[in-house]
Amino acid sequence: MNRRPKAIPMTNQQLTYSPFDPEVMADPYPVYRELRDHAPAYWSSQASCWVLSRYDDVSAALADPATYSSASGIFPTPPGVDMTDLFLPMLIMSDPTRHTQLRHLVSKAFTPRRIAGLETHIQTLVDDLLDKTPETGAWDFVSGFAGPLPAIVIADMLGVPREDRQQFRTWSTTLIQSNPVRGEFGPGLDAAAALYEYFSAFLAERRAHPRDDLMTALVQAEVDGEHLSEEELLGFCLLLLVAGHETTTNLLSNSAAILAAHPESRRQLADNPDLVPAAVEELLRYDSPVQGLARTVTRPVDLHGQRMKAGDTVLLLFGSANRDDHAFPDADHFDIHRAPERQVAFGRGIHFCLGASLARLEARIALQALLARHRDWNVDLDSAVRLRSGPIRGYVSLALQ
Ligand code: HEM
Repeated sequence: MNRRPKAIPMTNQQLTYSPFDPEVMADPYPVYRELRDHAPAYWSSQASCWVLSRYDDVSAALADPATYSSASGIFPTPPGVDMTDLFLPMLIMSDPTRHTQLRHLVSKAFTPRRIAGLETHIQTLVDDLLDKTPETGAWDFVSGFAGPLPAIVIADMLGVPREDRQQFRTWSTTLIQSNPVRGEFGPGLDAAAALYEYFSAFLAERRAHPRDDLMTALVQAEVDGEHLSEEELLGFCLLLLVAGHETTTNLLSNSAAILAAHPESRRQLADNPDLVPAAVEELLRYDSPVQGLARTVTRPVDLHGQRMKAGDTVLLLFGSANRDDHAFPDADHFDIHRAPERQVAFGRGIHFCLGASLARLEARIALQALLARHRDWNVDLDSAVRLRSGPIRGYVSLALQ
């Protein structure tokens, strides 16, 4: 494997990087390479956080929650702003031991066996959605397929009406597109408040009339003999709804664009649908829907000649770790036969994505069905609208034909 170029001292660096820079959002991969090669522990003054971009550093941080805490939030925020003041308590923003307790509560709903039981249901949804797509002419892949599928699946699991999905999708898309660093967080907070209000009516209803759904299970759950507080319940609902569909939507949209750009891979997948599960792993690696999330260091950490102080925010770039040649040879090359078992698109360690089995199942069924029906699609990247989100990479709209 190539040796790494020597890191450039921070004072001599020409590099500027912020996850919220529109140019970075359009194509972050060139700057990720610069960061990995020359500034593996980089201080982004625009985002007020350290940035770790190498696979080994990102993996090590994910494996050490005592040093890299999630409890102060998982997005970079301006100095003095604590994300936990903005959001209700959530699994993804907690450390052990509360994290262990909360995770135990929901993990039963997401075991691989429970998720495998959803296969027929998901297949039916996929077929219904694809039946509505035109056989010829352009159609919007996001609003016609990649958006509704995961939104309906998580709505059904939680027990909220599918018909409300347009509304909760608007709220959650607003939430993930808000930029705390530029102070554009007002619309995101309004959207979160609207989601909390939406869920609180359902939670009250489930207390009075339990049903066989995830929301009822959360209402009835107990930790050490105590029910979750209303705030914790609302935090859970918001997390499951937003994490449960925005990411999968973007995995599907990114996949449609990548496969259009790699017609030979797409042909192989259409001819051999059994190759799709391994291709999903490569699609997750190659263009990760969650590009990076933050942690707060709990003690001083010295890394690559830099000192991170206790209390500093550190952005862990999953999207860059997954393009590190030292973990994935020739990482910028898309290869459906690569089997990138170590990819970190779902994170790693205690916060490893709770919905990974569900996302993999949805993506496998969706792509197999899409390949069977529309073998040779093109995407119109000129008219495509990208999400304006630091952490999430994907599309608001993407025309397919
Ligand atoms: C956590 C990515 C789908 C629910 C995570 C994390 C990542 C991730 C990177 C780790 C967060 C961290 O370390 O701070 C993805 C991707 C998905 C996806 C790329 C789709 C392609 C889903 C789905 C659900 C879900 C379908 C639920 C239905 C969660 C939850 C957590 C989480 C609840 C927090 C787990 C914890 O803190 O213990 N996800 N996710 N995700 N994900 Fe996913």
